[in-house]
Amino acid sequence: MTIEIVKNVFELQQSIARRRMEPTNSAATVGIVPTMGAIHQAHTNLVHSAKINSDIVVSTIFVNPKQFGENEDFDDYPRSEKEDIEKLEKAGSNIIYIPSTEIMYPEDFDLNINVPKLSSILCGKHRENHFQGVATVVTKLLIQSNADFAFFGEKDYQQLLIIKNLVNDLDINCKIISIPIVRDQDGLALSSRNIYLKNEKKIIANNLYKILTQAAKDIANGDGTDQVISNAKKDILISGFNKIDYLEIREERQLGEIKDYNKIKARLFVAAYIDNIRLIDNIIVE
Ligand code: PAJ
Repeated sequence: MTIEIVKNVFELQQSIARRRMEPTNSAATVGIVPTMGAIHQAHTNLVHSAKINSDIVVSTIFVNPKQFGENEDFDDYPRSEKEDIEKLEKAGSNIIYIPSTEIMYPEDFDLNINVPKLSSILCGKHRENHFQGVATVVTKLLIQSNADFAFFGEKDYQQLLIIKNLVNDLDINCKIISIPIVRDQDGLALSSRNIYLKNEKKIIANNLYKILTQAAKDIANGDGTDQVISNAKKDILISGFNKIDYLEIREERQLGEIKDYNKIKARLFVAAYIDNIRLIDNIIVE
């Protein structure tokens, strides 16, 4: 069956049902890859993982207004639907779901999904209601598609854990599968927003992963976390970033604080700005 572009819940469910009606496909599993478009290689890696783990791959493109703050870049967020469709198709999607804002949030829409504890730290502390917007839209996508598997990247590690928690707490029968961070040849984590990084801004951005890698190594080698983090913050600012939202080490499972690193599974998390471009990254401490 050829790829289908669907625009609302009815079309989405019909398309999945039609594929399941094929003689060999009645037990087919559905894997969903939620995105906000501006498709890059991390997104297509997610589709590849979905292809390996499920029979019917649904990719979604929806720039979700609920997860952008008032002064954030919703209007300017890169949109490239035609190219996105081509890339998602080539990567192996069977269905591409592109709902409008009116479909996702009709006039009387009045629901918020909240995962308060996990949303109160790191990015959640600096982006009010961001994770509420993410949690609400992802819950809707999982329910609309009734997917067996959903695929998310570890670049947005806090988002990944919030989604795992909400699926667990709401008894949604969907397994969350993650992929590692995809980086460019300079180590910079791919992001749809990287197109804003022209010339010297890209050169500044490349420092983030290098500084993070060194800091993670130093912590793993037993240097005091406070000192390492304070030095790394200085290095980030010296390298040309103009603001740091946070640089913190947290345990991997539920992002609990770590005072002194003691060989437990942990990651170093960072969010920093070059002008008004906000970059996030994280790295395993081991
Ligand atoms: P978006 O930023 O488009 O990312 C879609 C998926 O790609 C997310 O799971 C994200 O973690 C993953 N991703 C992006 N860059 C990555 C990288 N360099 N390495 C690995 N994975 C990467 O995240 C969102 O959209 C939205 O919040 C969404 C979940 C779609 C809800 O609106």
